[in-house]
Amino acid sequence: MKIILSGYMGSGKTVVGKSLAEKIGVKYMDLDEEISKWEGKNIPDIFKESGEIYFRRKEGEVLQEILKNDNSVVLSLGGGTPCYGKNLQLIKDDEDSVLIYLKTDLQELLRRLSEEKDQRPVISHLGSFEALEDFVRKHLYERSFYYNQSEIILSTEGKSVEEVVNA
Ligand code: S3P
Repeated sequence: MKIILSGYMGSGKTVVGKSLAEKIGVKYMDLDEEISKWEGKNIPDIFKESGEIYFRRKEGEVLQEILKNDNSVVLSLGGGTPCYGKNLQLIKDDEDSVLIYLKTDLQELLRRLSEEKDQRPVISHLGSFEALEDFVRKHLYERSFYYNQSEIILSTEGKSVEEVVNA
C-alpha cells in the first residue's frame, strides 16, 4: 500500500510522514527530495534556474515513477502536487494508494511559514506578515478544492505529531 500525504506547505507532511513510516515499518519518500535527486539541485534552485513550469513538469514525472515502482511506501507530496496536471487523478486511479489530506488551520500554517519562508520559493517573495497572510489565505482557499478530494481528511488542529500519526 502507498500512503500518500498531501496538504499545504507547513502542514506537517514531512514530519508526520517520516514518523508514520517508522511506526509501521515501511519506506519513507518525500517527493521534493526525489525531484532534487533527479535534478541534482535543491527545490529553490530548480525554481530559480528553470522556473515553476519546469518544476511542475518534473514533479508530475517523478510522481508517476514513484506510483509505478514503489509499492510499500509512505510518500509526502509537495504542497502543490495535487493541484497541477493529472497528479490528483493519477493518485485516485492508483488502486494501492490512499491519499490523506493533513488539514491545518490558517493561523497555524502562518505561524510555521513565517519562520521558514525563505526556503520556500512560492512564498519567499512576500515581504511582510500581512502579505504572507493575504497570499496564504487565498492560495489555501483555491487549493482546498483539490485537497478536499482526498480519501481521508485529517485535521491536525490541536494534535501533536504522535496524535496525527496515530490517527
Ligand atoms: C510547493 C511546496 C513545496 C515544494 C515547492 C512548491 C507548493 O513543498 O514542492 O516549493 O507549491 O506549495 P512543501 O509543501 O513540502 O513545502
